[in-house]
Amino acid sequence: MKNLRTSNFVLPKTSKNATFTLNQISGVNAVDIPAEWEKLDASELSGTLMVVGAPDVGKTTFARYLFKRLDAGKSRRGYLDGDPGQSSLGPPCTMSLTAAKDENDAFPPAGETWRYFVGSVSPTGHMLPVLTGAARLVAAAKEAAISTIVYDTNGFVDPGLGGFYLKMAEIDLLKPQVIFAIQRQQELESLLIPLRRSKRTHVIDLPMSPDAQRRERPFRQEYRAQSFARYFQSSAFLRINWRSFVIFPTPHFMLHQLVALEDARGFTLGLGIVEEIDRIFSQVYLRTPLHSLDEVDAIRVGDVAVDPETFRDRRLNRKS
Ligand SMILES: Nc1ncnc2c1ncn2[C@@H]1O[C@H](COP(=O)(O)OP(=O)(O)OP(=O)(O)O)[C@@H](O)[C@H]1O
Ligand SMILES: [Mg+2]
Repeated sequence: MKNLRTSNFVLPKTSKNATFTLNQISGVNAVDIPAEWEKLDASELSGTLMVVGAPDVGKTTFARYLFKRLDAGKSRRGYLDGDPGQSSLGPPCTMSLTAAKDENDAFPPAGETWRYFVGSVSPTGHMLPVLTGAARLVAAAKEAAISTIVYDTNGFVDPGLGGFYLKMAEIDLLKPQVIFAIQRQQELESLLIPLRRSKRTHVIDLPMSPDAQRRERPFRQEYRAQSFARYFQSSAFLRINWRSFVIFPTPHFMLHQLVALEDARGFTLGLGIVEEIDRIFSQVYLRTPLHSLDEVDAIRVGDVAVDPETFRDRRLNRKS
């Protein structure tokens, strides 16, 4: 295994790109590139490329590496961030798919973005929105002729919590051409054994880098708070009469609740934090970076509250 500790390196000859800076991959100074990653023939890859693994095995680091390795001249590329907790392309509670712009391989990519509101920072209790989001985002990208999509999945694979069934359902729906599996031990085997023998996909096993680090709950919470803070930093207030909009699932607003303002296709135009509720006049005051309600078709209320001072989130227990 090769450990690269320099700030630049030359891509293997399978890629047309010349060089890139390592800290563009993961926000850290050095990324360990295992020999198995380098050996991949990226010129053969197309369709949906799904990266699966338990938390902190290095899925995002590999997915970003893979995205850069794809042949930009061959097909339009997109990156699907499937983690509503430690999101890399959008604010927490959402999944986002962003297209690469031209041959530019910077991260985050600079092309068109589609965003889907999951309404929670974890797939626990929200597996259906995660599944629906992945399917809707991939379909939207394909309609826009983006035919190679790296899907960086979340680490929710625990069979006891339904994680296997979520991944299996995603595989059935999205029909990935390749599944890149990163395992700490053998934790994905009961998911992968039938897939390895099936013709419906191709499983590629990758070793976990020794540099992959576990991040504990406080780190994850702080990452989300910083991500929300960045997202809302240039927000203003919008007053909304909720009788003028469709509300999913019901107009049952709570203080500091996170909501999504959605377009007619169900994609997120912007998120908002409920800062005041006027039940007499059916109005909510939302803090949101969205400047106009012109394209808003519906409001989707989430199951999370975000403190507008600290941007820390907490789960809401909705009664209806
Ligand atoms: N190949 C690598 N070289 C250097 N650091 C790495 C490598 N792989 C992972 N890491 C580090 O380990 C941590 C976890 O990596 P990463 O975010 O890629 O994992 P993940 O599987 O996507 O996690 P999550 O389940 O939270 O989505 C990060 O701090 C990352 O920078
Ligand atoms: Mg990740």
